[in-house]
Amino acid sequence: MRLLAFETSCDETSAAVIGNNRILSNVISSQIEVHSEYGGVVPELATREHLRNLKSVVSEALTKASCDIDDVTAVGATQGPGLPTALMVGWKAAQAFAYSIDKPLIGVNHVVAHLYSPWFSEDQKGKYLDHVEPNISLIVSGGHTMLVKVNGALNHELMGQTKDDAAGECFDKTAKLLGLSYPGGPEIDKFAKGGNPKAYDFARPMLNQENDDFSFSGLKTSVKYFLEKNSSVLFNDDQLPDLCASIQAAIVEVLLVKAMRAAMRTNSKCITISGGVARNSYLRSEFKRECRDRDIVLKIAVPDLCTDNAAMIGLLANLMYEKGDFSNKPDDDIKPNWNIN
Ligand code: KG4
Ligand code: ZN
Repeated sequence: MRLLAFETSCDETSAAVIGNNRILSNVISSQIEVHSEYGGVVPELATREHLRNLKSVVSEALTKASCDIDDVTAVGATQGPGLPTALMVGWKAAQAFAYSIDKPLIGVNHVVAHLYSPWFSEDQKGKYLDHVEPNISLIVSGGHTMLVKVNGALNHELMGQTKDDAAGECFDKTAKLLGLSYPGGPEIDKFAKGGNPKAYDFARPMLNQENDDFSFSGLKTSVKYFLEKNSSVLFNDDQLPDLCASIQAAIVEVLLVKAMRAAMRTNSKCITISGGVARNSYLRSEFKRECRDRDIVLKIAVPDLCTDNAAMIGLLANLMYEKGDFSNKPDDDIKPNWNIN
């Protein structure tokens, strides 16, 4: 089995080769430099970069996996959700590739691919897919924040999600208010080190609501109003670590409390976390501490598989292929607003 996977839903152009549920290669070309001067992803520029980079990224993924085109047994690609024109580049390329070698094309939901990414384990030969156990899963990325109940591989149900901004979006937008560069999540993480998480008391929206939904736009607004009233803190570099640590603490507390509550309510003994925000060092240490205290197994995707990558797309395509759980119609199109359930 050699599955070639394509990912172009946002600002990473990526291709991977998966062989029998093992990552043989995973090549990622990031566009951060292209978008950073605009403080966010510009869809037209993302699309142009995907067109420019996809061919070399795919060639490199095949070469690194010592895989010839003739060895490819199936093709997987992100079909949605994502930026329509960006998705279109990878999806159409994958479609053309699959038809030219007369092999199946498996359309993958990008968010579901994040969902199973914590199940990659590592041995001497590299990363492989472990057996998926029942768990409560937190997906925290730039576009999504959701809690999902996973009963086993390809068997999951959405519990709740953000009503407005995603957690990553909140990191990025508040970082912009602080004058930090894009993407703001890693910047806040970096500057928060050595800061006091209790220095400022920012809003924790929906923390006290007994549902599994989130809201982060109120937190962004509370930071905005605070900075408007106290603009002098922006000119005092000494305050930056405290501000970053306090914003980070507010976001992580909401995620932590809601995920723990969902696990307790469903008697789940395992929590998994995926998506770009799962790289956050404070989130990782807070969840580790809380799960240890509550005797819950914690699986967080390894850092290089948290942000967007084609290996997670290939892993899910591999699972779907094994189950025969995919359609392969020539007119299948992208699904920019594809929901998880
Ligand atoms: O999963 P991802 O690569 O893309 C989406 O599917 O959205 O996530 C990107 C998001 C960005 O908002 C970025 O700021 C955030 O992940 N992120 C972080 C960290 N690293 C990336 N947020 C907080 N702390 C980090 N260390
Ligand atoms: Zn993503």
